[in-house]
Amino acid sequence: MNKPVLTERMQAIEDMVLPGLPVADIGTDHGIIPADILLKGICPFAVLTDINSGPLEKCRENLKAFGVDPSKFSILQGDGFDPVGDGGFGTVIAAGMGGELITGFFEETGWSVKRSAGEPLAKRFVLQPRTHADDLRSYLTEDEFRLCDYKLAKERGRICEVFAVEPCAAGQLRPDCGLVSEFLLQKNDPLIAEFIDGKIRKARRIAENASGSERPDAKYAAEIWNTVAGQLEEIRRNI
Ligand SMILES: C[S@@+](CC[C@H](N)C(=O)[O-])C[C@H]1O[C@@H](n2cnc3c(N)ncnc32)[C@H](O)[C@@H]1O
Repeated sequence: MNKPVLTERMQAIEDMVLPGLPVADIGTDHGIIPADILLKGICPFAVLTDINSGPLEKCRENLKAFGVDPSKFSILQGDGFDPVGDGGFGTVIAAGMGGELITGFFEETGWSVKRSAGEPLAKRFVLQPRTHADDLRSYLTEDEFRLCDYKLAKERGRICEVFAVEPCAAGQLRPDCGLVSEFLLQKNDPLIAEFIDGKIRKARRIAENASGSERPDAKYAAEIWNTVAGQLEEIRRNI
């Protein structure tokens, strides 16, 4: 029988899941992460969702090939948090999608602790945005969540950001909105230097492209991005 093989990124996601409670995996695609979670007995039940039917077919085949007990999961097609709107999850995972898309899931589906129905969708959200991770982190920690874990993990040579947030009361909010997460800096993640170096290179590249552009705001954009690069270099010097 086939066994799920987790990359370092997938393992980081799995490690942040709350054990003993149902899990939902939004945009599951291959279904490898929830399959492994079920096979290891970390969670008693999983809901696997995707907006597209093709990935869900693949996921169904994978779970069968891995020998996952069919009474322990359901597979639902739908957009974002829509298919799991009734809540009751320990953890909701949203991984491998753009940060703007994941932000939209939180904005659009009224999942929150403020829901009139009362119970939040999940005790914890484990998120791995492929893009705009800083915007998603700022948005959530300024609103209703506290950051409770954060890890950098490599996949195919690329550094991925995996973090977990939990709903909290307004008085417990600790916004984490810097160029690099305070949480990550304090944790001194093994990949932090390489991660910041990548951000510096990107900021310098954008500044250079802007300074070669004819656009009216090009000079201003170049200045902003050079300032960002300088601030990142300062952070890098202090780690
Ligand atoms: C790159 S795969 C990520 C697979 C898996 N979550 C992982 O991290 O390895 C992205 C998946 O998200 C699905 N997806 C894209 N937009 C979505 C949406 N609005 N709601 C649910 N799933 C979506 C795609 O169909 C695709 O299967």
